[in-house]
Amino acid sequence: MSNNLLYSGKAKDIFATDVEGVILARYKDQATAFNGVKKEQIAGKGVLNNKISAFIFEKLNAAGVATHFIEKISDTDQLNKKVNIIPLEVVLRNYTAGSFSKRFGVEEGIRLDQPIVEFYYKNDDLDDPFINDEHVKFLKIASDEEIAFLKEETRRINELLSDWFRQIGLRLIDFKLEFGFDQDGRIILADEFSPDNCRLWDAEGHHMDKDVFRRGLGELTDVYQIVWEKLQAIK
Ligand code: TMP
Ligand code: ASP
Repeated sequence: MSNNLLYSGKAKDIFATDVEGVILARYKDQATAFNGVKKEQIAGKGVLNNKISAFIFEKLNAAGVATHFIEKISDTDQLNKKVNIIPLEVVLRNYTAGSFSKRFGVEEGIRLDQPIVEFYYKNDDLDDPFINDEHVKFLKIASDEEIAFLKEETRRINELLSDWFRQIGLRLIDFKLEFGFDQDGRIILADEFSPDNCRLWDAEGHHMDKDVFRRGLGELTDVYQIVWEKLQAIK
């Protein structure tokens, strides 16, 4: 399989398969933050994120969200539909935190009256800058209709996810999604959903996500394991 490597990312390697339109995503034991400036190998992280993301994507598929997820085939590997990734990080915020709190000088954990959707341009050389709808059009990344769809779909996914996490005592503070065009030119949800790309706070305000690594608050895999165990109780 290793000679079919299509792309090596920070958290996953992507391989071609024998099946047309299907790729294999292999989750890695690597944690990075601040655009790769902080980097560590953390044994067990890949296995945890593969199972957490597979679990969430299965539930999203079942709820009628079009996603790239096909099936989990081993501890670290899953099969996904091949897409052309849209170079946007679509971030939705339910509460203030992270770069939002920094940008506006507000404390973390304030509930927003309405969830806020933001776009970041996926470009490591530029450090994934914050961009608006007009910039998305200037860069010819997406049309007005596609931008509207990305926002609506992200809000719909937020309602599902927020409810699931609420059921297990976790607050979904914010998260990042990526979308892609499938073989038929339809926009579908891609990439992953794991504690690497969302913020989850428990009832006491403990960070149950990659902020434990970004901010040096504890053992990443201990926290991800707790999230995984809690997920089993979702209805
Ligand atoms: P931020 O507050 O740092 O902008 O992050 C917002 C959300 O996006 C948070 O849940 C973490 C996630 N995220 C990623 O998944 N990848 C990234 O590169 C960054 C900066 C944030
Ligand atoms: N994903 C980014 C990185 O790998 C940043 C982050 O998640 O904080 O550096």
